[in-house]
Amino acid sequence: MSDDSLNALEIEELTLDEAELMEEILSEFAESRRHFIGQSSTAILSALVLGFVAKRNAFAGTTEALIGTPVADQNAVTVAFRINGVAKNVTLDSRVTLLDALRERLALTGTKKGCDHGQCGACTVLIDGRRVLSCLTLTAQCEGREVTTIEGLAKGDVLHPLQTAFVKHDGFQCGFCTPGQICSAVALLQEAKNGDLSYVSADVRQKPRSLQLSDDEIRERMSGNLCRCGAYPNIVDAIREVHTGKPTDPIGSWDPELKEVQDAAV
Ligand code: FES
Ligand code: FES
Repeated sequence: MSDDSLNALEIEELTLDEAELMEEILSEFAESRRHFIGQSSTAILSALVLGFVAKRNAFAGTTEALIGTPVADQNAVTVAFRINGVAKNVTLDSRVTLLDALRERLALTGTKKGCDHGQCGACTVLIDGRRVLSCLTLTAQCEGREVTTIEGLAKGDVLHPLQTAFVKHDGFQCGFCTPGQICSAVALLQEAKNGDLSYVSADVRQKPRSLQLSDDEIRERMSGNLCRCGAYPNIVDAIREVHTGKPTDPIGSWDPELKEVQDAAV
């Protein structure tokens, strides 16, 4: 049997999906196809395919490859906290951020990693109802705390009002920043109820129990959450609607003439 027919036989023993993955593996290893296959048994190829699938699943955010036992924890600490109402005990390296613990240990991949440096807001979650950047928070700091992520906002099949408003007002395009935007907005609404002031508050001498936020206030208070798609006007519309409790026509957001009419009517 020639080398070529042997190689063809080995390739045929792979499923169609595995064969496609093989092509990616071969290009990843940057070796000539003939040389690589000539030196590989089917068992080795299958092992490579399985490894590649696991790696790809991890990048795709599926849970299978994410919740396995981690490679040797150093400086291990066990943290007991609640996530989305469920008690969790996690043993991990004391230096692991909450963001990495959520995504890589607890398979809660709704929280996104953008900059990993506290600059974009994509990783925003709630701790005891207050918004925090999970990329700048150590998991060990969460001992005894209640962490809420985007996965914990809906009640069963019923979306949180802000989630519904974001859908209604098209408050996103790619959606990457959206979990952070919504978590941030949930805390923003509570801050307004508490009467917390901001940089653009008109009168800092007063601390009313409940603030009625202008669009400028909403923009300022959401300024830590960046949106590379530029969905800002619609995000403000969605938050204003929930904040005021007054439904607005989403068309008014992108039709300047109608928006003028609506603004004049208020
Ligand atoms: Fe945390 Fe960007 S990922 S602020
Ligand atoms: Fe794409 Fe905000 S919707 S980054």
